[in-house]
This record gives sequence, structure tokens and C-alpha cells, in this order.
Amino acid sequence: MERLQKILAHAGVASRRHCEELIVQGKVQVNGAVVRELGTRVNPLTDKIVVNGRRIQLEQHVHLLLYKPTGVITSVTDPQGRRVVTDLLKGVKERVYPVGRLDYDTSGLLLLTNDGGLANKLAHPSYEIDKVYRAWVRGVPTAEKVRKLATGIRLEDGMTSPGEARLIKVDAGKGKALVELTIHEGRNRQVRRMCDAIGHPVITLERIRLDFLTLEGLAPGQYRPLTSAEVDRLKQGLIQNKRDGGRKR
Ligand code: URA
Repeated sequence: MERLQKILAHAGVASRRHCEELIVQGKVQVNGAVVRELGTRVNPLTDKIVVNGRRIQLEQHVHLLLYKPTGVITSVTDPQGRRVVTDLLKGVKERVYPVGRLDYDTSGLLLLTNDGGLANKLAHPSYEIDKVYRAWVRGVPTAEKVRKLATGIRLEDGMTSPGEARLIKVDAGKGKALVELTIHEGRNRQVRRMCDAIGHPVITLERIRLDFLTLEGLAPGQYRPLTSAEVDRLKQGLIQNKRDGGRKR
């Protein structure tokens, strides 16, 4: 159940304030009866809501987990006509938007949703959502350099906030190493810039986890809807993180 004016504003009827005026003026009906009381709670999925004689169409929230392949832009349109992530969604009629951004050359886990409130929180560093990346880097970073990746690196837009980093694998023959990095920010090309800063440029980059969500069961280019249990868990995690003042769970 949600407040009527919030639902109307969400459905794009008008601004929240204007929706309140419409309610007070008696222009809104719920299940056939005029409702003039602000704050009346209704069920957006089951109640019939009519404004100025027209039924409003509510869009259900959709949350999709996409395994973004490389070579696709994290956007809904591209002026240069390149492939964008929403081109990979077949039969999704709701207008969904990516949560945060993965570079053209980065693959991995990308959420898309029309739930703006959730998207803003997930993307905001203060909620300390884990974003876990695996990067093959040129050369083999020393333990000290890996530690620096975790504790903080000075970039041109400031110090990175603390995260985690570990060396997973070394391919001595090819002169490269696999590093796993957990960060909570989403600055532009952050992981690439962090690895550049320690002198080990990224060769390939993939996001393998967002909070508790992984790519399990998906191949590059595939996606699936989140279950309602997963959406609830994400929301609970955000509340918990905020309550703990951004400290890690
Ligand atoms: N950091 C990067 O450098 N690139 C991405 O796509 C995501 C994080």
C-alpha cells in the first residue's frame, strides 16, 4: 500500500504537489469513489485509480540482471548508433535504465530497472554496496601494491575509499595476473585508473558481483529478472547499510 499522491506522481500524472491538488479538488477516484484525503493509502496493483475520468496506467517495477558483454555501451541510446545494453533485452516493454555504468570494454553484472529510488541508492557510495571486479592486469603486482589497491589510491579526482583487493592467479608465461577488487564507489573508469596508478594496466575487466548478486547461470548477453526475494534482500541490505552508517555488514 502506498500514498495516493506518490503513486500518481510516480505514474507521471503530474508533480507530487500538483497531484495533491488534484486529490483535494476531488478529481481522483479510487475504485469508483472520489478520494479527497491526502495520504490515502492504495494498492497500486489492484486498486482502480482514475484521474479526471481517465484510468492511470501503472508500470510495475522491473529489475533485470544482465551479463553485459564487452563491445556494448551502457546506455539506452547512442547517437553514433552503436549497440547499447537495452538492445540485448528482448520483449521487455517497460523502460528500464542501467544502474551505474560499465565501460564499453568491461563485461559483467549490470542491473537495469525502472525503479528509480532503488537505482539511486544502489549507485550511491554512501550505501557501501559491494562491487566486485576481476581484472587481468599486465605484470604481477607486489603484495604492497595489492594492499594499496585496498587501502586507497590517489587518483586525479581524489583518494579512493577503502575496499578489498587480492591476487587470485599469476600467468607467468603471459606476464599477467588476475586481481580481484571490491569497491563501493562508481567513479568513471575507476578500476582501470586504480590499476594504472600502481603500474599494472588492465587487460580485461569483468564485474562478477554486486552485493550478493552474481552472474551464476548466465552467459554474456543473457539476462534474467530478479526474484522478489532478491529485490527484498537488496532493499533490506540498503536499509541495514544506512543504519550502520555505511559500515560493512
Ligand atoms: N571500473 C572501470 O574502470 N570500468 C568499469 O567498467 C567499471 C569499473
